Amino acid sequence: MKLEGKVAFVTGAAHGQGASHARYLANEGARIVAVDICEDIKPIYPLGTREELDGTVASINDAGGEAIAVQADVRSSPEMKAAVDVAVKAFGTVDILCNNAGVCIVEAVDEISDESLDAVIDVNLKGVFNTVRHIAPIMKAQRSGKIINTASAGGLKALPMVSHYAAAKGGVVMATKSWANELSEWGINVNGIAPGTIYTGMITGIAGQLGQDPGEAFEQFNANNMFKGERGHVTVDDISTMVVYLASDDARMITGQVIPVDAGWVAS
Ligand SMILES: NC(=O)c1ccc[n+]([C@@H]2O[C@H](COP(=O)([O-])OP(=O)(O)OC[C@H]3O[C@@H](n4cnc5c(N)ncnc54)[C@H](O)[C@@H]3O)[C@@H](O)[C@H]2O)c1
Repeated sequence: MKLEGKVAFVTGAAHGQGASHARYLANEGARIVAVDICEDIKPIYPLGTREELDGTVASINDAGGEAIAVQADVRSSPEMKAAVDVAVKAFGTVDILCNNAGVCIVEAVDEISDESLDAVIDVNLKGVFNTVRHIAPIMKAQRSGKIINTASAGGLKALPMVSHYAAAKGGVVMATKSWANELSEWGINVNGIAPGTIYTGMITGIAGQLGQDPGEAFEQFNANNMFKGERGHVTVDDISTMVVYLASDDARMITGQVIPVDAGWVAS
């Protein structure tokens, strides 16, 4: 197993990609701190629930792994500090930070409300700072660590009608590169992943906002991928595989990179 003895802090772990990342990391031997807000944020589509977060943790523990659930909001620095304290108390440290929590909403720039601007910027961008601020000191002290930020293909290439989301994810890309430089002195790897469109609650939520059938919206979002049809359907497993790779020593020479896993959309 590639992550035996490591502790991974995974945000947005109730459902979607984060739940999958937690299970994949646990399958490689990592002990998991599964974090999620477990309540909705106005005006965003339904987010993860406490039952789902407990389900993520139960599936890991039932499979012989070790995981705990922490209900906390990445928008809040005190809540993230408390969550990190729980992680250290339970498992002694944090070796892997998987910054996965995110939300999106489709809006024309002149229709963006204060409420949705705050939600999109605070979860996607400020949320990433709120974990790194509290976990970097632990990684510095042990002179090692892996930080993996989920950006988006939309943080690397223009995405009309989700400009706040694209701007927040573009911010995650630059924070990733900046932290990689800043934390290299302590042997900490900082990388990002830029997923293409993946059929999760985010996509069904966006389809709902657009009044579209989720399956049709998903195909439409994938239309410009290099790989077409089913061959161009990026899955949560594709992203989790990259998370495990970046968390492992196989990727020890990779830092400051944001890697698209997107069926070729960014490069198209
Ligand atoms: N699905 C896609 O097509 C796609 C594409 C590119 C990037 N992404 C990114 O991938 C990541 C995972 O998204 P997903 O597709 O699994 O979406 P999802 O909506 O299925 O899951 C997101 C999870 O994050 C949690 N969350 C949201 N706000 C939170 C907060 N404030 N504090 C703690 N937890 C919070 C939710 O409860 C949910 O469990 C996000 O960062 C998203 O922006 C998704």
